[in-house]
Amino acid sequence: MVYPTQPISLFPFFVLLLFLSSSQFRLTVTEPTPAAWPLQFHSVLFMNRSGSLQKVDLWYDWPNGRNFNIIQNQLGKLTYDLEWNNGTSYIYTLKPFEKECRTLHVSVGILRPNWLDGATYLGQQHIDGFLCNVWEKVDFIWYYEDVLTQRPVYWVFYTGYSAHVMTFEVGAVLEDAGWQAPVYCFDDAEKERRKSPLLESVGARNPYGRLMTGILHASN
Ligand SMILES: *[C@@H]1O[C@H](CO)[C@@H](O)[C@H](O)[C@H]1NC(C)=O
Ligand SMILES: *[C@@H]1O[C@H](CO)[C@@H](O)[C@H](O)[C@H]1NC(C)=O
Repeated sequence: MVYPTQPISLFPFFVLLLFLSSSQFRLTVTEPTPAAWPLQFHSVLFMNRSGSLQKVDLWYDWPNGRNFNIIQNQLGKLTYDLEWNNGTSYIYTLKPFEKECRTLHVSVGILRPNWLDGATYLGQQHIDGFLCNVWEKVDFIWYYEDVLTQRPVYWVFYTGYSAHVMTFEVGAVLEDAGWQAPVYCFDDAEKERRKSPLLESVGARNPYGRLMTGILHASN
């Protein structure tokens, strides 16, 4: 009675072997991929650029084609960096600070939810007390995601400019009124004077938004 059962019991074993030897299977086991960004979220980030600290309110709103970085420099200016998917950015300050606005036109939109696609997996590392999967993209950004919840914990640019993710509210949306740039952004003379087509100039003066977007777009 033992003999006829043997070929039957071996069959699943061979199927399993075939499965294990396929490279696709091995990839899914050893190479996690970063979670896509939620279509809409609000995040508070603590940023550190060579010891200059900032608190950034990040409002990512892909369905409405807009992205906001509200940047509080430590004991300094509050700067609004409002980016539209058509390539226009308004970078401005409000009262009690001097009324300033810079309008930028660049050829790239905002970050896509899948902007981390194609990143290189580097393994696991503890950061800020969380066990994270770590990826690197185009030698530009290193991205740390919590293994348990798949939420971003930390990222750092090649310059050393880093972001610690303090809150991550999936689905949170800033109401439309909050996305209205002040009237002095639309003064025509001012607008022409300050028009800057160069992404480089953004990199020099804009601490966060379009530089990242531009480079990551170029890589996709
Ligand atoms: C900010 O980064 C610098 C390195 O660039 C580091 O020496 C410093 O401790 C950091 N500050 C905070 C508050 O994390
Ligand atoms: C892009 O969209 C914003 C918001 O609707 C608008 O203010 C801006 O003029 C647009 N830019 C261009 C180049 O159409």
